[in-house]
Amino acid sequence: MRYPRELLEEIRMQNDIVDIVSQYVPLKQKGSSYFGLCPFHHEKTPSFSVNSEKQFYYCFGCGASGNVYGFLMEMENMDFVEAVKELASRAHITLPEPERSAQVMAAERQKARLLEIHKKAGRFYYDVLQSQQGENARAYMQKRGMQPNAARKFGIGYAPDSRHALYDFLTQSGYSVEDLRLSGLILADKSGEGYHDRFRNRLMFPIFDAQARVVGFGGRILDKGEPKYLNSPETPLFSKSRNLYGLHLAKASKRKEFILVEGYMDMFSLYQAGFHNVVASLGTAFNQEHARTLKKYASDVILLYDSDEAGTNAALRAIPVLVENGIRVRVTQVPDGKDPDEYIRQNGAQAFARLLVDAVHYISFQIACIRKQYDLRIPEHKVRFATQAAEILAKLDSEIERNVYTTEVSRMTGVEESALQNEIQKRMRQADESFAQEAQRRRIQRQRQYGEVEKEEAGVIDAQKSLLYFSASHQHIYEILQNILTPEDFPTKAYADAFTAIGTLWAEAGNVFPAELISFFEDAQTQRQITAIFAAQPLEDAEFDLQKAIKEAVTILKRNRIAQEMAQAQTAEQIQACLEEKRKLEALHITI
Ligand code: GTP
Ligand code: MN
Repeated sequence: MRYPRELLEEIRMQNDIVDIVSQYVPLKQKGSSYFGLCPFHHEKTPSFSVNSEKQFYYCFGCGASGNVYGFLMEMENMDFVEAVKELASRAHITLPEPERSAQVMAAERQKARLLEIHKKAGRFYYDVLQSQQGENARAYMQKRGMQPNAARKFGIGYAPDSRHALYDFLTQSGYSVEDLRLSGLILADKSGEGYHDRFRNRLMFPIFDAQARVVGFGGRILDKGEPKYLNSPETPLFSKSRNLYGLHLAKASKRKEFILVEGYMDMFSLYQAGFHNVVASLGTAFNQEHARTLKKYASDVILLYDSDEAGTNAALRAIPVLVENGIRVRVTQVPDGKDPDEYIRQNGAQAFARLLVDAVHYISFQIACIRKQYDLRIPEHKVRFATQAAEILAKLDSEIERNVYTTEVSRMTGVEESALQNEIQKRMRQADESFAQEAQRRRIQRQRQYGEVEKEEAGVIDAQKSLLYFSASHQHIYEILQNILTPEDFPTKAYADAFTAIGTLWAEAGNVFPAELISFFEDAQTQRQITAIFAAQPLEDAEFDLQKAIKEAVTILKRNRIAQEMAQAQTAEQIQACLEEKRKLEALHITI
């Protein structure tokens, strides 16, 4: 899996972390560091820092940290290799084929086979739709106003009313039953003997990923019946909580504003009517992963859910998910409880375009929704409405927006603006406090994720970090320490590996650059542990006694190791050996 270290370093150096982070987070300079709002947790005051000198980022709020690779991995949900590819391409560096482990290669080949199966299946359904067997389905499409041109573009097909037409077709094409089952398109019979097709007698909507590859299907029943829509199950290619229907088309529209709808047919009809920036969630609640996917392509969303109660509630739940991910949200609804598909078919594209123009800021929508629950002629209702509205407004980051809507609520209720403002301020303070608590909780949680914290005292962690820090800062210190310490003296796996890696860097590169050391480690969690070595270390000023600091840290690690060996010792010889180690430690002198 590894690329040569020099190459990784070259790519890293060509991608200044300040530039890369700035593409996602507005930063302000303070000395050699830059600060901004952390993209990995919700906050109102900046605790996210980017160190330009050492080329890493660190969040004082939630502990997120890493180098430029780690940043892209977390931000874009990439794995290490994807981040390397992305940064190499930004720097116009051509990558050699990486060496991959047999396991990774097998997984890639399997994924390629699954993609092929989906492509073939899509073609199969498409052909059946055009054939005589597809007659009913074509009539259904006509009834619903699905035009042939758009249907072709979407690859709409028909799963015949047969128990194993697709199974026969795909096995004849040479695919193994194991792959077919993994694709989710073929299921084993209850008897355990034969196999059958998942989709039968349904209009088939291929689901494409962002690269326009078929990764799953949604099938609509032609007549009445349950379930109305049947989706592919979760497979190595497809996840309904990640994939969005129509994403490849919306992406191609190059618009920064997407319309988000609930249903396949809504997406289809809007596209057909000329609105190409539409995506639908796949019959599941809109979630964080959806938002992160969207955010890669769109900065703004117009939420257009059904106007019935279920649709309104779903919209109210989707709003915070979008907003927390930094997406600007407006909301619009179709009148008379119709869904967007019905509306556009009855009223045409022009009328629909007006609905989009009428989209309101999500705050207005939220306030209008709670407004419906109250009769503002009744004083008690006024109070409750104003209080609930204040709660919503307290979540707005922009003071200007807060003021605008405060005035509006004041006008609606007759409650004085200053009274509303006090209520809002109170709630903002409460939110800040609970944020601080949440940040603390996250810090602890992240530390736990680092692994050994529960087993080891903080002192042992700090000792490892300082020794690694000094070893990375001064070659002669590393050389002294490597005569005294072995990697096994570092109880944290990542730190043991870091000690070895520092040795490699001194020997081969002649220096240890923090961000380069971080690149030795491919998973985000370990990168975070390594970054922590450099994130908060003492200034080596006049009063700082380096020799003493190193002696103390070495003693902590040696004692820790002896204590552990002692605890595991079973024979008299082993205990003797531990005691011997202990005597040696007491006699240890380190001269820097
Ligand atoms: P049409 O009746 O074909 O116009 O569909 P619709 O989009 O108007 O359906 P509805 O508003 O009932 O559902 C919205 C979305 O929820 C659909 O597009 C599907 O993605 C999903 N959905 C609806 N019914 C089912 C179901 O029975 N099972 C599953 N898994 N998803 C469903
Ligand atoms: Mn519908």
